[in-house]
Amino acid sequence: MITMDLEAQKRAAAARALEFVRPGMRLGLGSGSTAKHFVELLAQRVRAGLEVIAVPTSEATRSDAERLGIALTNLDEAPELDLTVDGADEIASDLSLIKGGGGALLREKIVASASLRMIVIADESKWVSSLGRFPLPVEVVPFGLAATRRAVEAAAADMGCAGPALLRRAKDGHAFVTDGGHWILDAAFERIPDPRSLAERLDGIAGVIEHGLFIGLADAAIIAGSSGVRVLERR
Ligand code: A5P
Repeated sequence: MITMDLEAQKRAAAARALEFVRPGMRLGLGSGSTAKHFVELLAQRVRAGLEVIAVPTSEATRSDAERLGIALTNLDEAPELDLTVDGADEIASDLSLIKGGGGALLREKIVASASLRMIVIADESKWVSSLGRFPLPVEVVPFGLAATRRAVEAAAADMGCAGPALLRRAKDGHAFVTDGGHWILDAAFERIPDPRSLAERLDGIAGVIEHGLFIGLADAAIIAGSSGVRVLERR
């Protein structure tokens, strides 16, 4: 029952985001279950004649979009996008985000960074007073894993974030492998007092490819809850 409610909220947020799409736009398509609703609703509009071109942020989204008939391109052909619509694992009131629960954070951040505007869509369970309860995904190269993990944990501890960074595993027990061939550490911090400073520290660690802190990237959030849909612009 709760799952149905959440799915309806995700779809409502996705539907509201469609109102920001204009003919001819170059779009970034996010990944995850909320973004999938957006891809499905966008495809309905495309079938009705809307012309857009899109860059997917994961192989899963690429396959959905292809199957549904959305014209795709890549950032080499379209290095600047008009709008990216994506989900998130946590959204704080300044629209800083934690992303990467689905493992697509690297392409998601590249695509969002290449977009003039990013809109994040979510059900209200993602809205938080401070980031960190959702374990922060940190994408790393397999080489030197233990050393990189140690550096991540030390940098985080310096920033007031205590907690282990655990290697994400796939269902078969092997390391989860991202679309880029990397591994992911999920860092259980509970609370991140200063997300921007932590992001800067993680950016400087050899072996860290990317992390799921999206700071200053989302321009607006569309949050759907039991009492309706809110659109919040970043101040
Ligand atoms: C994918 O790597 C993530 O960044 C997703 O955007 C995030 O996990 C949200 O996914 P859901 O919409 O499935 O909660």
